[in-house]
Parts: sequence; C-alpha cells; structure tokens
Amino acid sequence: MREGLSNIGYIVASVLFILSLAGLSRQESARRGNALGIVGMLIALLATAIREDFSGYGMLMAALVPGAIIGGVLARRVQMTAMPQLVAILHSFVGAAAVLVGLSTYLGPGHPLSAAERNIHLAEIFIGICIGAITFTGSVIAFAKLQGLMSGKPLMLPARHLLNLMMLVVTFALGVWFFREWEHGGLWPLLIAIAVTGVLGAHSVMAIGGADMPVVVSMLNSYSGWAAAAAGFMLNNDLLIITGALVGSSGAILSYIMCRGMNRSIASVILGGFGATEGSAPSGASPQGEVRSIDLAAAAERLREAKSIVIVPGYGLAVAQAQHALSDVVKKLRERGAKVRFAIHPVAGRLPGHMNVLLAEADIPYDIVLEMEEINDDMPETDLVLVIGANDIVNPSAYEDPNSPIAGMPVIEVWKAGTVIVMKRGMASGYAGIDNPLFFRPNTQLLFGDAKKTVEGLRNELGA
Ligand code: TAP
Repeated sequence: MREGLSNIGYIVASVLFILSLAGLSRQESARRGNALGIVGMLIALLATAIREDFSGYGMLMAALVPGAIIGGVLARRVQMTAMPQLVAILHSFVGAAAVLVGLSTYLGPGHPLSAAERNIHLAEIFIGICIGAITFTGSVIAFAKLQGLMSGKPLMLPARHLLNLMMLVVTFALGVWFFREWEHGGLWPLLIAIAVTGVLGAHSVMAIGGADMPVVVSMLNSYSGWAAAAAGFMLNNDLLIITGALVGSSGAILSYIMCRGMNRSIASVILGGFGATEGSAPSGASPQGEVRSIDLAAAAERLREAKSIVIVPGYGLAVAQAQHALSDVVKKLRERGAKVRFAIHPVAGRLPGHMNVLLAEADIPYDIVLEMEEINDDMPETDLVLVIGANDIVNPSAYEDPNSPIAGMPVIEVWKAGTVIVMKRGMASGYAGIDNPLFFRPNTQLLFGDAKKTVEGLRNELGA
C-alpha cells in the first residue's frame, strides 16, 4: 500500500517537474512554474519518506530542517548578480552527494545480482562517482572565481589539453582495475578515481576565463543532473533518474542557447581563454573618434520629444539596480503618449533571462518587453534608443568587423535608430573586453554616470 502510494507520488512529482520546466520557459508563467517545482519537490520528499524500506526519519529531519532554513535564508539574501555563484556552489553539493552515494552503495551490503546486473551496477557506481567528483571540484572553482576568491584569469598550463587527456586515460584504467577487483580491493581504484577526476574537474574550470563562468555554471548544472541520474540508478530510484535527466538535458540545452547567443561553440568555451579582461579599458586597434556626451536635462528633453522609444537594458542596469526607477520613467513616458518598448538580447546581463527577471521585479508590463528578433526590424523607425548599462549586445563590430572576437554574434541594431543615448559610467569595455564603435557614431550620445543615479535623474527631470 505505502509502496503503491509512493510510486503514485513519484509519477505526480515527475509530471510536476516537467510542467515546472515548461512554465519557467516563459516570463508570464515563470512564477507558476516555480510553484509547481516546489510542490513537486514536497511530494517527492513525502513519497520517499513513506516507502516501506525507508527508516531514517531522524537522519532525514536532521538534514532537511537545517538545509531548508539555510537554503531559504540564502535565496532571500542573494543579489541577482550573485546568483551564478550561488548556483555553482549548489551544484557542488549535488556532485559531492553523487560521490558519497557511490561510495556508500559500493560499501553497503547490496542485493544478490546476476553477473550482467552486477556489471551494470558497478558501472553506475564508477561513472556516478567520476561525474560527481568532476562536478564537485569544477563547481567549487567556478564559485571561487565568481565570488572573487580566485583570479578570474584562465590558468593556461603549457600542455593542459594533454594533461586532461592523460587524466581521462588514467580514469579509464582505474575503471578497469575497479571492475577486476570489485569484490575485495575495489575501494582503492574508486578513491584514486575520485582524486584524479576531482583534479580534472578543477583543472578544466581553472583554464576557463572568469567571464565565461555563466556558461560553465550552466554546463556544470547539466553534469550535476547526470550525476543525480547516476545516483538514481545506484539507489534504484526512478524519480531521481527522471529528475536528473531533466536537469542534465535542460542544462545542456541552456549552455547551447547561451553559446549560440554569443556566436561561440561549446568547445571554444571549454578550451578557455576568452573575455578575461572584462571591465578594463579596451585595448588594441580601437575605433576612435569623437565621443559626444549629453547631460540629464538634454537627455530628458530628447525623451520628451521622442514618439517611439526602445530601451535596451544590460548588465549595468542589474549592477546598479536601477529597474524600479526605470519603471517610473517608463510610466511617465507612456502617460505622455510615447510608444515605449524594451529590446531584450538573449545573453544580456550574466544569466539567461537576467533582464526579464529584473523588469518583472519592477512590474514592467510583459507586453512591452520584446525579444531581439521581434524588435530589430523596427529600429529604423525608432526615434530614440536608450541603452542602459549594455555594451557588447549593441556592438556593431559583430557585423562590421570580421576580426572582432564577437564577429557574427547577433546584436540589437540600435545604431539604425534616430538617436541613441548610451548610459554608462565611463568608457570601460563589457564582458568581451572589446571596444564599441557605437559610442563614436554621429547619432550616439553618452550619458555618463551610475545607471541608478542617471535613471533617477531622468525620472526627476521628466516629473518636472
Ligand atoms: P556588457 O557588455 O558586460 O556591458 C555592461 C556595461 O555596463 C559595461 O560596459 C559597463 O561600462 C556598464 N556598467 C557597469 N556597471 C554600471 C553601472 N553601475 N551603471 C551604469 N553602467 C554600468 O553587458 P551586456 O551588454 O549586458 O552584455 C552581456 C555580455 O555578457 C555579453 O557579452 C554576453 O555574451 C556575456 N554573457 C552573458 C551571459 C548571459 S546568459 N546573459 C552568459 C555569459 C556571458 P562602465 O564600466 O563604463 O559603466
């Protein structure tokens, strides 16, 4: 009876997880998607706790209660811009869990198995432990880089690809040793494999520039899903297998979407070395020319005159937390009869959907928030574009300079509008560490200052 109920619970939880992912794919349904995921997880916990073979209630509560409290507090406190490192450290827990589950499954009493079943079981243990160790150390390094505990610069050891290859070969050899000696001496190859794959995970992520970490975090998300699925096989738990596969495949798809948005291949991210100079003054053969600056009063005047306005938000808006003031500016402009819309680039900010979350937080209506492809064609008919804390995603070099590191990346074609006002603090580069000729175009004007202060300034000017 309890087993039957538990199985029904697992099916319901799996369906809720799938519906949750579907909900999270659109801004309008994201809250519902999140709620469905929470309900699914509660059902999954209950369904596991009522199983006949489950007895560790004390242990469950000892893990669950402090875990839920710590998780809740962290989630409430974390800033949106610090979300990648929180996600990275959470993935490291999944990796560590997969390693521990693998070890305890190997050391535990186990059930009688046929030779074929035993081989599959041993493979589950070995593969699960290796993926778990890579995920654990890789995620810890990603966390350290994003949190600024380690330099974001890629570690470029001379023969690093060879080193990684050698570690993979050694891991394979350890797997063979484990299969041969599983009955008595299997613990040693397992422990050595944990150490080797742990170093492999750490080394691979160390070789990647800090700026590429969001893609790496998304890939580690995928690995953590596969590690969880492997743990599900070891524990014979269908729900864990399904959930792990959902996380594994959605993380892989997300990494692909991020790479496509930057016009880069996953391989070029993994091989490392890109975007290590974010926030610095651009170097190299830079497009030079005259920069025209504009003050708040003049910028507000331009906004008053414009009938159609497109706002392009970027990373700087998130850093400055200017979304609430911006929401007031949008209200004022719409009250004056202007057509105001937002153009969202798929990789604006540092997280997928970063801008959508910020704008939703500030209650900006969904129907005026458009994707890049939906609005790019309207640029020539737009009177004014307000670029707030964005840089790479509006860089014309992507189309005009075949040697640019972002050549071929789709960008928002703001330069085609009547006037472009770019709001940023100085002339620093963005994520890709490259110059932006947009700033020198005759129809571009720069409104210098922290985005929060300048947007609040515009709000005051428009209110007057
Ligand atoms: P960026 O190109 O990074 O430019 C952000 C600009 O904001 C900087 O040039 C900076 O210039 C300005 N800024 C920073 N703080 C500010 C503040 N407080 N007030 C005003 N301005 C501020 O950002 P983007 O245009 O959003 O492009 C995103 C980049 O991240 C892309 O290259 C993308 O490939 C990359 N990326 C995105 C993701 C995802 S999934 N979103 C993942 C990985 C990589 P100043 O310092 O001069 O102010």
